[in-house]
Amino acid sequence: MGQIVPDAIERYLGGLNRGGDAVLDDIARGNTSRGLPLVDAEVGALLRVLATAVNASRLLEIGTAIGYSGIWLAGALPPDGMLVTMEMDEGRAREARENFARAGLADRVSVVVGDAALKIAKVAGPFDLIFQDGAKHLYTPLLDRLVGLLRPGGLLVTDNVLWDGEVVPGFVPSPRRDAGETRAIAEYNERLAAHPQLLTATVPLRDGVSISVKRQI
Ligand SMILES: C[S@@+](CC[C@H](N)C(=O)[O-])C[C@H]1O[C@@H](n2cnc3c(N)ncnc32)[C@H](O)[C@@H]1O
Repeated sequence: MGQIVPDAIERYLGGLNRGGDAVLDDIARGNTSRGLPLVDAEVGALLRVLATAVNASRLLEIGTAIGYSGIWLAGALPPDGMLVTMEMDEGRAREARENFARAGLADRVSVVVGDAALKIAKVAGPFDLIFQDGAKHLYTPLLDRLVGLLRPGGLLVTDNVLWDGEVVPGFVPSPRRDAGETRAIAEYNERLAAHPQLLTATVPLRDGVSISVKRQI
């Protein structure tokens, strides 16, 4: 059981949000035994709502894995829109391309294979929404670059900011997650809250999702 949202609430939300997309359902089903750290359907739906709300035509994602969150995001794009998504693991990137094709989205997704810390220098903005779900130790080092790539009024959405509650000192009696990553996320949350160009709110859904809007200044 997750520490943040009780199982019964997660089941209730999952029940409301079922029967969507065959490819998404298939990836989620296949991942129950595999256990890759993918967002769930509720976070996926939140991503699609946010991308739709900002009328997104250009999206950036850090941490593709096998394309699950990317399909939720790219599903909000118009036919001439584009999702650029970065993944270091070649096998996962290959699988992601296959999944984007199965979902009928291959024409509007570009999977960049490599270390996002290096590849990000070559990406040109502006983006309407950026989803940060890559390596936790890179959250803070990449923050200013990602803010620079966002258009004013655009959204930076970050997953895992509550880290199963472990980011809250003393909340979890026997922490199980990597202490260095926990510190990295705690530092990132402080940086987000104090960032002069961002206004941030956090939704305690699943593992915690922060939503930051770039100020129109
Ligand atoms: C949490 S998973 C992403 C899950 C995906 N967003 C989803 O919900 O469907 C994080 C991914 O980031 C990738 N990753 C880790 N460090 C990276 C880096 N430096 N550059 C690019 N990708 C990285 C990992 O290989 C992993 O597949």
